[in-house]
Amino acid sequence: MNIRHFLSTQDCTRPELDELLAQAARYKRDKLGRDLAGRAIALLFFNPSMRTRSSFEIGTWQLGGHAVVLAPGKDAWGIEFEPRKVMDGEAEEHVAEVARVLSRYCDLIGVRAFPKFVDWAVDREDLVIKAFARHATVPVINLETITHPCQELAHAMAMRERLGELRGRKYVLTWTYHPKALNTAVANSALLIATRMGMDVTLLCPTPEYVLDERYMAAGRSNASENGGSLRVSHDIDEAYRDAEVVYAKSWGALPYFGRWEAEKPIREQHRHFIVDEAKMALTRDGIFSHCLPLRRNIKATDGVMDAPYCFAIDEAENRLHVQKAVMARLLAWNSPT
Ligand code: CP
Repeated sequence: MNIRHFLSTQDCTRPELDELLAQAARYKRDKLGRDLAGRAIALLFFNPSMRTRSSFEIGTWQLGGHAVVLAPGKDAWGIEFEPRKVMDGEAEEHVAEVARVLSRYCDLIGVRAFPKFVDWAVDREDLVIKAFARHATVPVINLETITHPCQELAHAMAMRERLGELRGRKYVLTWTYHPKALNTAVANSALLIATRMGMDVTLLCPTPEYVLDERYMAAGRSNASENGGSLRVSHDIDEAYRDAEVVYAKSWGALPYFGRWEAEKPIREQHRHFIVDEAKMALTRDGIFSHCLPLRRNIKATDGVMDAPYCFAIDEAENRLHVQKAVMARLLAWNSPT
């Protein structure tokens, strides 16, 4: 049987995305259920987490299931991913065994594996989660690698709660300063889901070097043309914010400097003024604001923006719980023999 995983929202049809969001809305109304009774999920975190870990653990429990959390290389054995490797390094076991053993214990496997931040040509292949998907005999869920599909669903759900129909709404994904070069995953994901919803999307970033990987730009353009929206790039803060209905902020490192972050840092330092503040939000058309969190206050967005009624970051974070329950339940249903 071909296993349906949840690695990217691009693997779901638009009706399936709507089905996930509708089920998430039902879980938001009725928290407790038995849809995961007797089921287990292994959650593997190669990187830190607050929201993803707690919402998956609690969501699984709320539906009668059990979650086991593992941090490979810390509280679980280090894992090798390279095929045919002579394993004389740090890793004690290979993903070929880990994925198959966990598949005997569990009904679902979730994996968080950020890029290594050395070579984008390697990181963009998303080898860790693809190896789990290849070797597992149960569905694998992306808990954030080079995209963050669970965040996408929570974001879409929260926008719909505030705005209703999203098609044709003006959406700005703005780069913001951060002292470190961060993952492009949430930015890639924001482009994917906003264009999938038929929104008129502007990617606002300091220079062309901060434009996202062409894979996601092309997917965004294709989503936009299929769903009645648009995608463009702007480097002009005032022009991009003017009349925006949604502002979504994220920081990321410029891909041409990937792995050479000391060379990128002076460029990044010149653009601290991309912070989301009240003056910029005043240019919008009663715009609403969000961020995936965690967020450094007064670096990425001001206290005034984070505490404003138009900030829906906490609603979006809450929705992680509801959408992930829907993802787990639907994946089991999609993979059950008919
Ligand atoms: N937004 C998000 O994934 O949060 P965590 O990194 O805390 O899981």
